[in-house]
Amino acid sequence: MIQTWRLDCPDQTLVLAVRDSALAAIVYWGASLPDGENLQTIARAGELDVTGGMLDVNPALSVCPQASDSFPGQPGMTIRGEDGAPLMPKFSFERADEGQGALALHFRDVDLGLRYVAHFAIDAETRMISTRAELESDVVIRLDWLAAPVMPAPQLSDTMLDFSGRWVGEFQSNITPWSAGIRMRESRVGRSDHAHFPALIVPCRGASNTQGQAYAFHYGWSGGHRMIAEELPDGRRQVQFGHASGTQITPANRFETGTLYAVYSNTGLNGCAVGFQRHLRDRIVEWPDRDRSRPVHYNCWEAVYFDHDVTVLKDLATRAAALGAERFVLDDGWFGVRDDDTTSLGDWLLDARKYPDGLTPLIDHVQGLGMRFGIWFEPEMVNPHSDLYKAHPDWILGGSDQILGRQQMVLDMAQPQVCDYLFARIDTVLRNYQIDYIKWDHNRVLPYPDAVQTEGTYALIDRLRAAHPMTEIESCASGGGRVDFGILERTQRVWLSDSNDARERLRIQHNAALFLPMVVTGSHVGPRTCHTSGRVFDIRFRAWVAAARHMGFEMDPRELTSEEAEVLREVTSWWKANRDWRQDADILRLDSADPSVIAEQQQAADGGRFVVFAGLADTSAQIAPRPLRLTQLDGAQMYRITVLNRADAPTLSRGSPLLKQGSMEVSGAYLMQNGITLPWSFPDTMWVIEGVAI
Ligand code: DGJ
Repeated sequence: MIQTWRLDCPDQTLVLAVRDSALAAIVYWGASLPDGENLQTIARAGELDVTGGMLDVNPALSVCPQASDSFPGQPGMTIRGEDGAPLMPKFSFERADEGQGALALHFRDVDLGLRYVAHFAIDAETRMISTRAELESDVVIRLDWLAAPVMPAPQLSDTMLDFSGRWVGEFQSNITPWSAGIRMRESRVGRSDHAHFPALIVPCRGASNTQGQAYAFHYGWSGGHRMIAEELPDGRRQVQFGHASGTQITPANRFETGTLYAVYSNTGLNGCAVGFQRHLRDRIVEWPDRDRSRPVHYNCWEAVYFDHDVTVLKDLATRAAALGAERFVLDDGWFGVRDDDTTSLGDWLLDARKYPDGLTPLIDHVQGLGMRFGIWFEPEMVNPHSDLYKAHPDWILGGSDQILGRQQMVLDMAQPQVCDYLFARIDTVLRNYQIDYIKWDHNRVLPYPDAVQTEGTYALIDRLRAAHPMTEIESCASGGGRVDFGILERTQRVWLSDSNDARERLRIQHNAALFLPMVVTGSHVGPRTCHTSGRVFDIRFRAWVAAARHMGFEMDPRELTSEEAEVLREVTSWWKANRDWRQDADILRLDSADPSVIAEQQQAADGGRFVVFAGLADTSAQIAPRPLRLTQLDGAQMYRITVLNRADAPTLSRGSPLLKQGSMEVSGAYLMQNGITLPWSFPDTMWVIEGVAI
């Protein structure tokens, strides 16, 4: 007997089947199937033949492949009894709970006293599939590995795309050919981490940003993930995501995975990207006030570092406000005796040497300028050189002889007294002052990964948010070390990278847009000479790269020439004038004919307007710019196209392309087929092109 279920949204169908009470398997995932499709037939149509050298029946590639079925690849679950002896579950179907766009399939292993549930939901608007697994046991067991429900990967795909990175170099893409065996990625450092953004994209042959089919996955968990993309000897392909293996250290009766987000697209990688961007923005992030425009930030870190002086900070605030900033974020250095990074993490009491009259004079000044006030914490950390460590050396995670990271250790977030202490200290600061924003940092990896650490952090953030519901939080971990949908269930912005190098940032932002919308992606105009690369970029390039996301400034505004300040004011005022429609826009990555051009189209929700950011990140091989094709426009519609910053064309641009003279009116068909021919420019510059349907 075969039981089947289908989940549908526009342009996507997922079909699950249970055969003879076994575990369910995904028997179809891709473009929408007609309403009348016979799912029994679908379940049977994909059965593989058997030949020499194979088992008599092919073991199912189920939502949790089982070793007890002689499955020839990685199982979806690896468990042991409390005594350490391996357990080999064999689950049978129990029941299905069906809801609107949701399905929970329950299974049981009576002999071992285990219950396994695979949850699926599909969002009719964002098109996102959310899936997670739960495991319960009558007796305490040890869990080495539990995958979120296992998804098939397409056969007509030659490569897969995932992401690595490093400090100031996040979101580096890796393309790996499919071949027999496993591609495994695992973050074993206790955070999603710069080096392991938890995601996989599987483009079908010929797919690009703008066309073709693609499947994409993101695991929403901040404690480190494991991904397995495996091609079995029979050619079938499976994708597994779960917590990093062995990180659910404590034996227990109940375990659950994080949520695996998955989406199929027939509009290239952008179809997946838009699904993630919208789902994150409209379903996951909890905004204290959804209608409030994102404020322009000023963050003082790269201006003063630990050298806090109220008079200087007030001056910076005044200058930042004059440039257009609307939120002032007081970074590291305000507490303990934090004159450098060797001391005071964990103490969280205001440094009376730097702030003899408390924070009120600075906050009053900032608010008097019309700005909001935010403050930096790194709650999970402690310096051995701190009052907290002296009082509670037993509050740390790992041994006292561990290798330090940035001279600091990690607090054990599984200890209730640690979280109570942190709550009390942070809560006091938030109650004593008018602060509605926290930059929440995390600057070292854990001495060893343990899921309860992440659960403790989540619980602390949840408790603080319940006490201060109007406070927004930015997730930072030496830049983009904790960027994932798990932390973004509790925060509203990510500090994508410590790199304010506009050229590097352009690339990082471009890749991050495969998952992150503009509203959550912080990007700041850095110093003229970049502090992390030593490179010098023109203010226009720095300003436009930041203006492509949630904009802010992080340089010392005292270094700006009057011309630089004027450019920054102008770009910021453009950003403000356009932020409301851009907050709900999709970021569509463009297929650039010139590999030196990194370009994207931010398209309004109603399709009536867009802005294209085309950054020249290197010198081009050919002498003249290649036309840049746009995407997802109405072919029959006429658009007015204007290069907003055409006055920035250098004198070496000697010709007269139409867009250098002014606007042009052309059809969507022309823009998508031929593309925009831009003026010549220097490398490390950005053209900003506005388009309006007329
Ligand atoms: C690392 C962050 O990424 C920086 O922006 C800054 O907040 C420093 N930590 C402060 O120590």
